[in-house]
Amino acid sequence: MDNKITFLQDKIKEAQMGGGAKRIESQHQKGKLTARERIHFLLDEGSFEEIGMFVTHRSTDFGMETEKYPGDGVVTGYGNINGRLTYVFSQDFTVFGGSLSETHAEKICKIMELALQNGAPLIGLNDSGGARIQEGVVSLGGYADIFYRNVQASGVIPQLSAIMGPCAGGAVYSPAITDFILMVEHTSYMFVTGPSVVKTVTHEEVTSEELGGAFTHATKSGVTHFACANELEAINHLKRLLSYMPQNCEDRPAPLPYDVNQNESRPALNQVIPENANQPYDVRSIIEQLTDEDSFLEVHKDFAENIVVGFARLAGRSIGIVANQPAYLAGVLDNNASVKAARFVRFCDCFNIPLLVLEDVPGFLPGTDQEWNAIITNGAKLLYAFSEATVPRITVIIRKAYGGAYDVMNSKHIGADMNYAWPSAEIAVMGAKGAAEIIFKREISSAADPEQKLLEKEQMYAGIFANPYRAAERGFVDEVIEPAATRTKLIKAFKMLENKVLNNPRKKHGNIPL
Ligand code: COA
Repeated sequence: MDNKITFLQDKIKEAQMGGGAKRIESQHQKGKLTARERIHFLLDEGSFEEIGMFVTHRSTDFGMETEKYPGDGVVTGYGNINGRLTYVFSQDFTVFGGSLSETHAEKICKIMELALQNGAPLIGLNDSGGARIQEGVVSLGGYADIFYRNVQASGVIPQLSAIMGPCAGGAVYSPAITDFILMVEHTSYMFVTGPSVVKTVTHEEVTSEELGGAFTHATKSGVTHFACANELEAINHLKRLLSYMPQNCEDRPAPLPYDVNQNESRPALNQVIPENANQPYDVRSIIEQLTDEDSFLEVHKDFAENIVVGFARLAGRSIGIVANQPAYLAGVLDNNASVKAARFVRFCDCFNIPLLVLEDVPGFLPGTDQEWNAIITNGAKLLYAFSEATVPRITVIIRKAYGGAYDVMNSKHIGADMNYAWPSAEIAVMGAKGAAEIIFKREISSAADPEQKLLEKEQMYAGIFANPYRAAERGFVDEVIEPAATRTKLIKAFKMLENKVLNNPRKKHGNIPL
């Protein structure tokens, strides 16, 4: 028996070495951790249980039968993150460049199925040269098997993807279907076709980093939700992100302990809004005051900055925040902002995370660029996402709530449970100047002093609509509140809504305007 145990121990040691010491060294030289090191840092100490350590590929072409590595380029299993069961796969670049073979895909699929059947999150650590070239179509089939399971698991369990090396070609579509993507700056990239194909087809000269690095996807395409300075930062981000989420769609996010005797008044909020309604301010300063200290985790921070979205805690409970950002493009809704916010709203709704909306929106961004890139369809996505969300939903109108954007931004009409307004709120079809120019056009043009007349009419319109009281009279606003009291109101209202039950009409699935 002793011999057999020694044999097993040697086999485990061999598997743990992946593609061998030289390739591990090369991985480290690139500033990257190995697949196993990543798992070590991600999971609670000693909690990892590996599945399929001795799996090898079945390929016999190109002399592959003589080159086999136990595990076949991916480490899979389960463990705990802060005590919570989590399934994980981690691609091993030291084995055939982490490329995806038939058996590599089977290992990932097995983990995905276990995660889905047992209702626990799935984390993928991606570092792969793509389809195993020596295997041809079986490798492509393996990708499709993964994509299919990603879709089946979507909305049932949280799925997170960290990109820690190459992720190209078909490989990109598994992370793309998952809920959140994190990329590591300078050592990871994602693209459907790489720089050499791009050069052949479009004659563009572009580096991998420019085409699909973390910065590019965090700022230009929005493909990644987070760009992390290094792998350890990405791993810590994964853990933090997960802390706001429940295990699955039947579960609720676990609250953190909270001292109910705290003073929740935030007097600083009474001074946040500038006297001049056209002056910007950073909505993050309001978020900071409203939420538990250091609890705000911003998602898509550098993409579509005119809307701010992210997770936070309110009296220990997890919430999702969607806030117009007056400090960027005056907080208008445009194509990117609408899509960014819609996806975030849908994620929160999938996983029972209540939504808080902070509204200061002058409308939709005008222009050919916006119209030709389908602001109609994209704006509708956000409208749709809010309208179908059944989680507790609260809106605070901070300042502007103009036009169609007023309806879209979680208005009472589309199902918000509570709608508060600050005294600075202006709820109207449009800004007073624009409104006066339209409805008093003739009167203004025929006046002796048209400018003076415009000002007069503008002030008149503003006097009627540049406040929250018309909306409050109708019950479209439940309460006009002093900004300092907002946090207290929100804590109470979310508590009041804790057991909300709302079911949308039975259907196969909705048809969100994609
Ligand atoms: N299939 C099989 N083996 C692959 C592979 C793939 N798709 N991608 C990389 N490898 C192997 C390499 O042969 C090399 O093997 P070795 O360690 O025995 O020498 C090892 O992985 C590392 O690759 P290498 O090219 O040396 O690493 P790199 O960091 O210089 O480059 C890539 C990484 C991903 C840019 C490069 O390997 C590449 O272009 N791979 C092919 C990508 C592709 O076209 N995939 C198929 C379409 S999805």
